Amino acid sequence: MSFEKIDKNNIPHHVAVIMDGNGRWAKKRGMKREYGHRAGRKSVKKIIESCLELGIKNLTLYAFSTENWNRPKIEIDFLMQLLFLSLKGELKNLNKNNIKFDTIGNLNRLPKKIGNYLEKVRLETKKNSKLTLTLALSYGSRNEIVNVVREVSDKVKNNIISSKNIDETVINDHLYTRNLPDVDLLIRTSGEKRISNFLLWQIAYSELYFTKKLWPDFRKKDLYKAIVSYQNRERRFGKTSEQIK
Ligand code: IPE
Ligand code: IPE
Ligand code: MG
Repeated sequence: MSFEKIDKNNIPHHVAVIMDGNGRWAKKRGMKREYGHRAGRKSVKKIIESCLELGIKNLTLYAFSTENWNRPKIEIDFLMQLLFLSLKGELKNLNKNNIKFDTIGNLNRLPKKIGNYLEKVRLETKKNSKLTLTLALSYGSRNEIVNVVREVSDKVKNNIISSKNIDETVINDHLYTRNLPDVDLLIRTSGEKRISNFLLWQIAYSELYFTKKLWPDFRKKDLYKAIVSYQNRERRFGKTSEQIK
């Protein structure tokens, strides 16, 4: 699939990716899972480059789920270190490319050194405007929704809002993703066809795209394929086809 096949007037505003298959990629090569995680960094670079070229304004990457805390400690430690080193290496590039960096998830569970560095990168890139790159880290959608319920019920208790005024906008405004538009296109690699606790509320009307490609093999042309598939769909949002035309 080539860049030219993409309709530049129908670019998704928000693409989210479940980057899956690093472990299997490494295993196929007789290597440890960690080797696959390291290789996945190149795919991250390529997809970011592609978003800049295509004019995609928001890219959200699922990097570590709340459930991933149940993995062996050695793998968790490796992933955290990889994240730290990658961020350190990329801070300059984020600014050079006008990329605003943000995170969603429960950062309190991350090692302090990493939490602090994430905050530093967020602050140092917050004025950038070409692309918002959001990393979902220690992220779980159910956990996010539980937090929303807590915050909103506190506000009701303290008479800041009335329960009868709770609507979808109020919920939306309390999610980690409050500053992001709805997800237009959700991509999952590695052939698994599940959501794994990612953005449950936010993907209510997203187009879903599943590919067998393992994450470390994912390249620009794979993103183009996903976008062309997206562009060939009719997003009806409950209406009839005639109403859309
Ligand atoms: C995705 O690859 C990366 C993370 C979840 C951190 P996996 O590590 O899940 O790779 P597979 O699914 O075992 O192949
Ligand atoms: C989902 O992948 C989480 C990330 C990509 C960060 P997993 O590999 O953890 O998902 P499951 O457990 O196979 O559903
Ligand atoms: Mg996996």
